[in-house]
Amino acid sequence: MAERLQKLLSQAGIASRREAETLIVAGRVKLNGQVVTELGTKADPATDQIEVDGKPIRPVAGKIYLLLYKPVGYLTTLKDPEGRPIVTDLLKNVTSRVYPVGRLDYNTEGLLLLTNDGDWANRLSHPRHEVDKEYLVRVRGKVTPDQVKRMAAGVELEDGTTAPAKVFLASESDNNSWLSVTIHEGRYRQVRRMCEAVSLAVVRLKRIRYGFLELGELKPGEYRHLTQAEVERLLQPGRIRSGGGAPQRTGRR
Ligand code: URA
Repeated sequence: MAERLQKLLSQAGIASRREAETLIVAGRVKLNGQVVTELGTKADPATDQIEVDGKPIRPVAGKIYLLLYKPVGYLTTLKDPEGRPIVTDLLKNVTSRVYPVGRLDYNTEGLLLLTNDGDWANRLSHPRHEVDKEYLVRVRGKVTPDQVKRMAAGVELEDGTTAPAKVFLASESDNNSWLSVTIHEGRYRQVRRMCEAVSLAVVRLKRIRYGFLELGELKPGEYRHLTQAEVERLLQPGRIRSGGGAPQRTGRR
């Protein structure tokens, strides 16, 4: 969609709209190779090349990046033949068609990213990115140090042995234990299958972190837009797995 150049420049984080106008009037902005000084000029970031001082700007207009707290009982598919709720049912005032980055099971809750930026989603989902994902898992009964050790070292699943993971006991009561499990692979029902492999019965599964992003204050069903800085930082290799801060330790949940 065509937008005024000053709006596109400010959305791209180049300058405020007022400063962008100054850049345009000063002849520092080119549209498809031609200097433009006319303030009303519009461009479509999907098809037009915009440059400031000879440097192309990244088109961002129209792109949406959301961080949703997916509740239990929602599918991460875009349609369900059985008519069950899907995560996009939770979005209000989002007119563009967004879809989830990766998946969470129907019975899993927690942090889910959604976007309409296919390129960004593909890059994030690529194994090269190895984004750390941290889950809190409530399991029935007590967990032994040996079970924790085996999950951390890698367990044998039908589709191969899991990569080393960070696993620790976060809290326990008489009936249940909470484990923190951080993995960077994204195999189907991976955390549940890792628990099953060491004879642990999963009662609740919640993703609390994706790279450096955390659920924060969001409640189930709530979402927020990512900032441009967050969108870009997620793609930066090397900064993803180290994440932001210590893993969240739980009280009893
Ligand atoms: N692991 C699982 O078992 N389920 C999920 O939804 C996510 C990770």
